[in-house]
Amino acid sequence: MTQYPVHMDIRPEVTGFFDPATNTISYVVQDPASDACAVVDSVMDIDYAAGRITYDHADAIIAFIRDRGLRLDWIIETHVHADHLSAAPYIQQALGGRIGIGDKIMVVQDTFGKIFNEGTEFQRDGSQFDALFKDGDVYHVGAMPVVAIATPGHTPACMVHVMGDAAFVGDTLFMPDGGSARADFPGGDAGELYDSIQKVLALPDQTRLFMCHDYGPNGREIQWETTVADERAHNIHVGNGATREDFIRFRTERDATLAMPKLIIPSLQVNMRAGEMPVDHDGRPMLKVPVNGL
Ligand SMILES: [Fe+2]
Repeated sequence: MTQYPVHMDIRPEVTGFFDPATNTISYVVQDPASDACAVVDSVMDIDYAAGRITYDHADAIIAFIRDRGLRLDWIIETHVHADHLSAAPYIQQALGGRIGIGDKIMVVQDTFGKIFNEGTEFQRDGSQFDALFKDGDVYHVGAMPVVAIATPGHTPACMVHVMGDAAFVGDTLFMPDGGSARADFPGGDAGELYDSIQKVLALPDQTRLFMCHDYGPNGREIQWETTVADERAHNIHVGNGATREDFIRFRTERDATLAMPKLIIPSLQVNMRAGEMPVDHDGRPMLKVPVNGL
């Protein structure tokens, strides 16, 4: 298995912002050696029934960064989310920073460009983002090195970003009692997801893992932080030596029972554009619904 350069001696301060509407956790990650920070997986609020966009969640993150006098270097998307809309461009407009995602975004754009019948004006080369990461790429938040690890399976463009001793796992893993995310969206693959999870579980035992989602299974309180050691021992889908075959069988059967996420239609259209709304022929922000297309 590839060895990724991880710096367990660097311990960034991590602040989670929970969005109860979508059970998403966004993060501000602060370099301990400077005033630089990153935002991971921001959320734009939508009332889909009304077609109304607001920014309370993103405003809280912007206020937090301003209050602390931090400089925003990066706005990271762990993947093209199907359950919430990204607020990356809104945060970038307020604070600067570069928007980054995995380079397999091009695969996702190609898949959903077809499903949403986007014309030739929709670029499928990832150019809506400021940076596209390949497996093993290293970038910096201030002085803190970050390694991006490709973790396809939930979606092709999924990546885990390891910032010092803190790994932002996106939907590659849930908390140990939540297991793993579905692998049945177009481009998803349960076997690939298992292999990707093994890459995360091969990180040092005490690596802090930060989830993108938590649904508080069995009535427990919402949580978003665990460790590699804890996941390896206790994850209900992949912990304690579950085999690849077991996982594929379980994941495929489970996924067949799951309804589509409530916000998948608007989320994909916005997130594959780095958080920008699609526009109609007159330039007005407008979303589509492909009938029997998903
Ligand atoms: Fe996701």
